[in-house]
Amino acid sequence: MRAPSSGAGVVAVLPAAGSGVRLGAGVPKAFVGLAGVPMLVRAVDGLLASDVVGHVVVVVPADQVAGAAALLPARPVTVVAGGADRTASVAAGLAAADPDAEVVLVHDAARPLTPAAVVRRVVDAVRAGAAAVIPVLPVTDTVKQVDADGVVVSTVDRSALRAVQTPQGFRAADLRRAHAGTPDPRTDDAGLVEALGDPVATVAGDPLAFKVTTAWDLRIAELLLAGAAREETV
Ligand code: CTP
Ligand code: MG
Repeated sequence: MRAPSSGAGVVAVLPAAGSGVRLGAGVPKAFVGLAGVPMLVRAVDGLLASDVVGHVVVVVPADQVAGAAALLPARPVTVVAGGADRTASVAAGLAAADPDAEVVLVHDAARPLTPAAVVRRVVDAVRAGAAAVIPVLPVTDTVKQVDADGVVVSTVDRSALRAVQTPQGFRAADLRRAHAGTPDPRTDDAGLVEALGDPVATVAGDPLAFKVTTAWDLRIAELLLAGAAREETV
């Protein structure tokens, strides 16, 4: 068991400012309830339950700042308004993060079931000296490259491929350097560090850290939570 103070120096930025077009719930995805608890609340509590995160900067649509803060009482969080794309939202969160933090995590609100062990593996790897760390899983499907007409061009060697999850962890100074200026929008933050030519290390991800993107994913997450609740009562 870690001491409660072990989150000192680690801040997490939680991008939750997307609209959730592919989920199609009619409200921003992070505010959609999962077994009655909004995804962004589950994601914040998952980070804090790791005992290695001291503060969370939650980034939400500009008209949801007060609403998000009301959902997160009695937690070490700051809520700020996001930007037009994920990269801009992370930059807004980073600007509000404690400038003295040594380690910054960036974690999608859309990964509400991420186990605390993944968070700890990422922080431990940064603490051990890596500038940037991402949790990954092997790719299990056969992967093919296709042309504009959908005709197969080639079969990709999947043994060298990894599917990437969050939280991604960074030495704070390196992430701030990667976000300096106006970087091209990317779907993750390690991509910005890669673009600088810096090495990005990997640790084991977890299937439970999957991203809720579509209605199917939301259903799977609900079934997983229902199964876990049943197991606790037997
Ligand atoms: N995100 C964000 N700001 C944006 C866009 C995305 O903070 N302008 C966040 C989302 O809230 C989510 C994470 O980045 O937690 C991953 O993005 P994604 O799964 O694509 O979520 P959405 O952009 O909300 O979904 P969609 O692309 O289907 O609209
Ligand atoms: Mg998106």
